[in-house]
Amino acid sequence: MRHLMNPLDFTVEELDRLFDLADDIEKNPGKYKDVCRGKKIATCFYEPSTRTRLSFESAMINLGGGVLGFSDADSSSASKGESVSDTIRVISCFADICAIRHPKEGAAMVAAQKSSIPVINAGDGGHQHPTQTLTDLLTIRALKGRLDHFTIGLCGDLKFGRTVHSLINALSRYENIHFIFISPEELRIPDYIIEMLKEKNISYEEVIKLEDCIDQLDLLYMTRVQRERFFNEEDYVRLKDFYILDKEKMKLAREDMLVLHPLPRVNEISVEVDDDPRAVYFKQVQYGVYVRMALILTLLELV
Ligand code: NCD
Repeated sequence: MRHLMNPLDFTVEELDRLFDLADDIEKNPGKYKDVCRGKKIATCFYEPSTRTRLSFESAMINLGGGVLGFSDADSSSASKGESVSDTIRVISCFADICAIRHPKEGAAMVAAQKSSIPVINAGDGGHQHPTQTLTDLLTIRALKGRLDHFTIGLCGDLKFGRTVHSLINALSRYENIHFIFISPEELRIPDYIIEMLKEKNISYEEVIKLEDCIDQLDLLYMTRVQRERFFNEEDYVRLKDFYILDKEKMKLAREDMLVLHPLPRVNEISVEVDDDPRAVYFKQVQYGVYVRMALILTLLELV
């Protein structure tokens, strides 16, 4: 039985197969509409979510399966003091696969160790968010035709942004990727990721101003400042509007640069950018459903 905790749990070849399956699902949805008949996904969300939870549920419904779960810790037995390990043992009796989101780093891994059904990490604290990365990679592959030879700028909260950490992990396996980390000093990328890049000899640079590098980018990955992970509100207020991508800054970018964002967006991308053909963050959401359908089929060994 397989789980998904980190994008690196799949080899590059396995990811290729997963993305090929997602492409086929996009082209031939009718072929897949009953493949999960009788199967159920449990979505156990101890932290807020709109996209990820509903995307998993939509994916399972598109496959003909059923969904159950909870969308906040207060409505689960966690509020009575139940541990994640006990909850997953119980969920294993109700469902065939589980997607779990939790504010604590490592919680999904704890669940996986006690589970008798495949567990998908749908975000564990500021650590990893592998299915967002699958979504990001599928979007890039679909719109650019490749996953190598890119200069990618990751901008915003690189310290707490789990989508950023997972995406860097995943992209570090493709050829000729140059990372530009764009963040204020306080929200720099964690040292353990810099160490990993150094060990693998992957080129990166760190800059503070988006204007200084936007013209070099093939891909710009914007992120929100992760308010819920700050220790004090004053720091959040000081940093929250550090970056605002607007029409003026987009004029400096290449004609074929893509702007991605895991969403939710707060102020970091002005709504005036939404109509720019380079802004693909709402398309990303649709790719998220196809790739989660492909993931469910793969983990349930139905392909
Ligand atoms: C992200 C997350 O939860 O980490 N959202 C998502 O799943 N698309 C990004 C964020 O909350 O900023």
